Amino acid sequence: MLNWEDTTATTEARKPSAPPAARPAPAAPAYDRPATVTPIAEGSAVAEPPPPDYDDLEGGATGLEQVAMGAGRISVDDKQMINCQADLNQLVPFKYKWAWQKYLDGCANHWMPNEINMSADIALWKSKDGLTEDERLVIKRNLGFFSSADSLVANNLVLAVYRHITNPECRQYLLRQAFEEALHTHAYQYVVESLGMDEAEVFNMYREVPAVHDKAAWSLKYTQSLGDPNFHTGTPENDRRLLRDLLAFYLIFEGIFFYVGFTQILSMGRRNKMTGTAEQFQYILRDESMHMNFGIDVINQIKVENPHLWTPEFQQEAVDMIHEAVELEYRYAVDTMPRGILGLNAAMFSDYLRYIANRRCAQVGLPEQFSGVSNPFPWMSEMMDLKKEKNFFETRVTEYQTGGTLSWD
Ligand SMILES: [Fe+2]
Ligand SMILES: [Fe+2]
Repeated sequence: MLNWEDTTATTEARKPSAPPAARPAPAAPAYDRPATVTPIAEGSAVAEPPPPDYDDLEGGATGLEQVAMGAGRISVDDKQMINCQADLNQLVPFKYKWAWQKYLDGCANHWMPNEINMSADIALWKSKDGLTEDERLVIKRNLGFFSSADSLVANNLVLAVYRHITNPECRQYLLRQAFEEALHTHAYQYVVESLGMDEAEVFNMYREVPAVHDKAAWSLKYTQSLGDPNFHTGTPENDRRLLRDLLAFYLIFEGIFFYVGFTQILSMGRRNKMTGTAEQFQYILRDESMHMNFGIDVINQIKVENPHLWTPEFQQEAVDMIHEAVELEYRYAVDTMPRGILGLNAAMFSDYLRYIANRRCAQVGLPEQFSGVSNPFPWMSEMMDLKKEKNFFETRVTEYQTGGTLSWD
């Protein structure tokens, strides 16, 4: 079972490139960026192999080419993460065994939103004094944010990322992930319907509430250009556009933008409120943790295969994106929780987001940006591991680990 404290396959196996040479520290955002921001350390330049001959790449295979009758058999060495020229319709031989393992793990974690008992939530939501107005706001805002966020992630996967990842075992995981994103959107719809909420209010929140809108708008600019049918990888500029999209969606959207909401809803469950909704979010968190770890492994593998893309300027851009994300997510924390509730307050989220941002930087080989921050919510890490927490909400947790076999009798 993956936990967000786990190191990922590629970060363990391959040392990322050295940090960039001296660069100016990014501009301080308004959310009280700490004085302890560590300027990116000076590092010696990395001896990089020459970039590939882009004239030969033609953007890589798509999997839709004519079948080359009698062509030589594909070997592991023919495979690569982007701009691969070999036929993509052959799953094996595996080059990235970690990707196949994540696909198997994702299938083993299968769940369905409508299996979770929502009756306690319905009674609590409909009771006059069961929840405070602040608690209701947290629930509504998070359903509003996540219901459109998972659609955005799914659209990015299917319409932008999938086309440009030229590896069959990674595509196999992307297909599994895309289905899981559909399950997540289904889960939010199921909660909204169960509680009898105003669907239009929830599903339009990304167009009507600034703190929700701003996160969606921030991410869209990274997927739009890749979704253009005329866009192809195969030049350094375009390969970096793909890398930027992967950073934006896997490291930031799924790795930072989800964490205020997850913490708020799971904190509610720990206090025995909205336990069905919290259980839905706990399953989603487990899935998202794996999505993010997969994305980090893909990013690091692209870096290993294309070190010329990971320039000091590009690393600075990535660091700036992470700072912007921390700022946006902190605004979301304040918006969803104008007063402290559930033992949480906005200041704790300031620490938490900086702690998470440091982890995200380290996971892709960027220098940590915030010194002296610790995790105010250590229980969140345990939430990723449902085995430990099986009886936590005292509700049924269906385990698909054993799966089912068809009987033909
Ligand atoms: Fe999702
Ligand atoms: Fe996801």
